[in-house]
Amino acid sequence: MPRQTDDLEALRGLGARAQAIPGFLSPREGKYLVQLVRATRLVEGDALEIGTLYGRSTVWIASAIASIPNNPRRLVVVDPFYGQYKDGSIPTIEAWWQTMRRNRVSKVVSLFPTTSLDAAENLPRPCSFAFIDGDHREESVLIDIALVIPRMSHGGIVAFHDVGNRNWPGVDRASATLGPECHWVGKRRGFIRAVRICRGDRRIGP
Ligand SMILES: C[S@@+](CC[C@H](N)C(=O)[O-])C[C@H]1O[C@@H](n2cnc3c(N)ncnc32)[C@H](O)[C@@H]1O
Repeated sequence: MPRQTDDLEALRGLGARAQAIPGFLSPREGKYLVQLVRATRLVEGDALEIGTLYGRSTVWIASAIASIPNNPRRLVVVDPFYGQYKDGSIPTIEAWWQTMRRNRVSKVVSLFPTTSLDAAENLPRPCSFAFIDGDHREESVLIDIALVIPRMSHGGIVAFHDVGNRNWPGVDRASATLGPECHWVGKRRGFIRAVRICRGDRRIGP
């Protein structure tokens, strides 16, 4: 059988394309998301993103999924579309889909335009990768943690945005409550820090 090579075409020019989308994710953070998504390529389940705004982080994550050959996985995205960008603008669902089409990832993503709590029944289970970047208040991040962690596959990764960001202390406070199945992965990159889910005494990796 011919060996399937990664579709690196999906990642070509991604940094510049993503920067053209209004958003809060830096190129360094975007590259880290690609690395984390690709590190879960053998883990069971779809991916999840809570909080997309105009879709900058979505394009990074969905392109990472698209770069993995024979990958039936989807990215489920939830956002009620009431978040504001720096200039005061609020994205529309139509503009968001245009961004997905322009970046050739519309077939990989499913959108639920509502809060994470209201979308609870539609969140993937099992879930291989999750990016939490929605409502940054402590009580809301705690809700997202409670929604996401039980859905994660063994070996899955959950990444948080705005860890260590003095403007959003609730993210640090909430992520400090994570249970023993959550193991921090390396150091913070930009404002992203991630945990790997390890259930029982099954080891992951070497
Ligand atoms: C910081 S922005 C996300 C930025 C985006 N990830 C990027 O790459 O630029 C936060 C987003 O979370 C959304 N949001 C707010 N409360 C939410 C909730 N309860 N569930 C899901 N999304 C929420 C807002 O509408 C907003 O679009």
